[in-house]
Amino acid sequence: MSNNKLKRADILFSSYSVAPYEILKRTMQKDKDFVINELTESGLRGRGGAGFPTGLKWKFFAQEENETKYIICNADEGEPGTFKDRKLLVEVPRKVISGMAIAAWACNAKNGIIYLRAEYNNLIPELKKEIEVFNEYAKKFNLEFNVEIYSGAGAYICGEETALIESMEGKRGEPRNKPPFPIQNGYLGKPTLVNNVETFAACSMVCRYGAAEYKSYGTSDQHGSKLFSLSGDSPKEGVHELELGMKVSDFVEEYGDGDTKAVQIGGVAGFCIPRKEFDTTIIGEGNTTGGATMIFNSTRSMYNVIHNYLDFFAEESCGQCTPCRIGTQQLLKGIEAVKSGEKPESYLDDLVKLSKTMKLTSKCGLGQSVTNSFSSIVKNFREEMIY
Ligand SMILES: Cc1cc2nc3c(=O)[nH]c(=O)nc-3n(C[C@H](O)[C@H](O)[C@H](O)COP(=O)(O)O)c2cc1C
Ligand code: SF4
Repeated sequence: MSNNKLKRADILFSSYSVAPYEILKRTMQKDKDFVINELTESGLRGRGGAGFPTGLKWKFFAQEENETKYIICNADEGEPGTFKDRKLLVEVPRKVISGMAIAAWACNAKNGIIYLRAEYNNLIPELKKEIEVFNEYAKKFNLEFNVEIYSGAGAYICGEETALIESMEGKRGEPRNKPPFPIQNGYLGKPTLVNNVETFAACSMVCRYGAAEYKSYGTSDQHGSKLFSLSGDSPKEGVHELELGMKVSDFVEEYGDGDTKAVQIGGVAGFCIPRKEFDTTIIGEGNTTGGATMIFNSTRSMYNVIHNYLDFFAEESCGQCTPCRIGTQQLLKGIEAVKSGEKPESYLDDLVKLSKTMKLTSKCGLGQSVTNSFSSIVKNFREEMIY
């Protein structure tokens, strides 16, 4: 895997030098297949966590023939340490709505919904104003696309796309079996495209710059820019837009406080990278792309860190499947038992095995991802876990 030096990017928050919704207007003058191919060519992957290629998703969605199709912008942003989508919705909502509208035009959908995290309800008045502006331009462009806001159900699991759809249908927010995928059978049984806020904003920018220019950011295998929500022991907490492909060591040099002992990449569902592995690339294949990045310095107890994560997972598990419902609680009780001396150190190995079984047997990404942070913290900070 090739890598970059850390490079700041100014794509997603760059200011417009063109009229409102000009990117949408110019894009609508092109061929629909060409636009979807450009997205594929750009190498853009979903920014909501799973990293699915966006062009491919749009292509499958465009192929669905149905009078009623939905486009959902996933603004649930429930991952601890993530706040980039809020910043996009506050500062550049036009880029997000443009991305949704381009998807609507390219894939023949007429209904758009922004699924907004309940804690972000204060953003609704300004978002509604922007939707009114959009409506005026959509009318001028003869684009039939109605955008509404749906206030989320206040649970981490409701960010998972099928749980999100269930909650919108008035049911408990629990993931569905897949297949069928939302593209074929989503909201109210209709074809539904779900993309993250940042993904839609990035789609607008791919349409503005073209695939070749967008692809020139990043490396040969990780294209474009990405928002990183940075928190923890850093003098530069906040949202940073960076070209993809930098090493953890470069990130730490720029954003650490000089005493960094570990970096959590991809939120609590991601990996905890210890100092001895800072030479790795920040978002490699298989790593999550959500963008929550937490820096821990040597004053932090990694036992407390993993305890907090497990507490969160146990609380947020929807309880639908046994490996996750019971597993998250057993891991939490297990590390407490080792820390108090009630269980021997070797019990940690049993717990790691349990977390790996959860990865194989849990129904959705919540239960499947617990092992990422759990195994990496137990492996690299074992001495902090014991009595
Ligand atoms: C437990 C869980 C929580 C999730 N939370 C979010 C979220 O808050 N926002 C988001 O965009 N995707 C979230 N996802 C991923 C979505 O299921 C889905 O993959 C994503 O919205 C697709 O958009 P993308 O292709 O643009 O990334 C979550 C997944 C899981 C398993
Ligand atoms: S893995 Fe956890 S959150 Fe996902 S369906 Fe199973 S119990 Fe629910």
